[in-house]
Amino acid sequence: MTKTALITGITGQDGSYLAEFLIEKGYKVYGIVRRSSVLNRQRIEDLYYKKYNYNMDNIEIFYGDLGDSSSLNRILKKTEPNEVYNLAAQSHVGISFMIPEYTCDVTGLGVVRMLDGLKDLGFITRFYQASSSEMFGNALVEKQNEQTPFLPSSPYACAKVFAYHITRIYREAYNMFASNGILFNHESPRRGENFVTRKITFSLSRIKVGLQEKLYLGNLDSKRDWGYAKDFVKAMWLILQHDKPDDFVIATGETHTVREFVEKSAKLLDFDIEWQGEGLNEKGTDLNTGKTIIEINPRFYRPLDVEFLLGDSSKARKLLKWKPEVNFEKLIEIMVNADMKLAKLLKD
Ligand code: NAP
Ligand code: GDD
Repeated sequence: MTKTALITGITGQDGSYLAEFLIEKGYKVYGIVRRSSVLNRQRIEDLYYKKYNYNMDNIEIFYGDLGDSSSLNRILKKTEPNEVYNLAAQSHVGISFMIPEYTCDVTGLGVVRMLDGLKDLGFITRFYQASSSEMFGNALVEKQNEQTPFLPSSPYACAKVFAYHITRIYREAYNMFASNGILFNHESPRRGENFVTRKITFSLSRIKVGLQEKLYLGNLDSKRDWGYAKDFVKAMWLILQHDKPDDFVIATGETHTVREFVEKSAKLLDFDIEWQGEGLNEKGTDLNTGKTIIEINPRFYRPLDVEFLLGDSSKARKLLKWKPEVNFEKLIEIMVNADMKLAKLLKD
C-alpha cells in the first residue's frame, strides 16, 4: 500500500522540501494551497509541473485555508492521509507584530481546526505540528531543550505556544498520534527573501552584480542556531516514524550572530567589510571600493526581539538517530552560490 501524507504549507520553504523528500520515499503527497491572484507555486513548480507533468500519481493539490475549517474537513475526508504535516502558518515573527490577530488565528487556531477535524473523522493518522524555538523567547538558559520553559516574545511565538499545547492536549485527551517538532531556525535558497539569512545572501549578491546599492538590516547582534532546511524536513519525517508520539527539539547546537552571517557571506563574494559606528549609525563599508553597502534601518528592529537561541537536540539524536549534515559555513556557501546564480541571471 502506498503511504499518503497531507502537507499544509506545501508552497513554503519546508513544505516544498518535505514534499520532495516524501515522494522520494514512495509516498503520495497531498498539499493544501491558498488561492492567490498570482500563482505562487515556484517552490513546487519543478516537482508538480516539470518533473511529474501534472501527473497526479505522486502529488495532488487542493485549495484550502487554515482559517477555514470547512475546506480543511473536506480535504481531510477526501484524502484520509496516513500522515499530516501541519506546516502552514503566518511564519514571520516581525510581521506578527503588525498582524497579531491574523497570526494568532492561522498559526494558533488553525492547528485546532486541523486536530479537531482529524479527531471527528476518527482516522488513524499521525499528526506533526511545526513548533518553533521562538517559543523559548529570551530563555534564561545556556541551551534550550524539551524541558526549557516557554517565554514567548511575539504574537507569533504566543500562537505557536498555544499550538504546541493543543497538540499535546489532543494527544493526551484523545490518544491521537500528535507530535511537536520544536525546530530551530533552518534556511536554504528557498527561504523567503524577508528572513534575515536570505535577505543577506540575496541582497549582497545583487549588490555584487550592480542590481542594488545597499543592504538595510536591523539587530546585527541577535544570535540564532541556523541549520539547513533539507536536514530539518528529514527530522519531521523521523518524528512521525517514532514508535510513540512525542515532542523533539531539532537544532544544530551552534549559534552565530547576524553580523557573522553577513561577514561570512560577504567574504564569499569578495567584499572586505569594515564596520564603523554604533547602533542605528553602524555601517558596513567594502574596503575594496570604499562604498558603504550595509546600513541599519530602525524599521527592521522588532518591538521585542529574541536575542539568543541555541538548541540542545540530544533527545532527537539519541531516539531518532537524527543529526544535521550541513554546518553553518556550508549553509552560507549553498545560499550565496544559489543567490549569485540568480543575480547573474537577472542582470543578463
Ligand atoms: P514559510 O516558507 O513561510 O511557509 C508557510 C506556508 O504556510 C506557505 O505555504 C504559506 O502559503 C502557508 N500558509 C500561510 N498562511 C496560510 C493559511 N491561512 N492557510 C493555508 N496555508 C497558509 O514557512 P517555513 O519556513 O516553510 O516554515 C514551515 C513551518 O515551520 C511554519 O509553521 C513555521 O512557523 C514553522 N517553523 C519554521 C522554522 C524555520 O526556521 N523555517 C523554524 C521553526 C518553525 P503561501 O505560499 O500561500 O503564503
Ligand atoms: N527578518 C529580518 N530582517 N530579521 C532581521 C533583520 C532584517 O532586516 N535584521 C536583523 N534581524 C534579526 C531579527 O531581529 C532576529 O533577531 C533575527 O535576525 C532572525 O530573524 P528572522 O530571519 O526573521 O527569523 P526569526 O528567528 O525571527 O524566525 C524564524 O525562525 C523561527 C525559529 O526560531 C522564522 O522562520 C520563524 O517562523 C521560526 O519559528
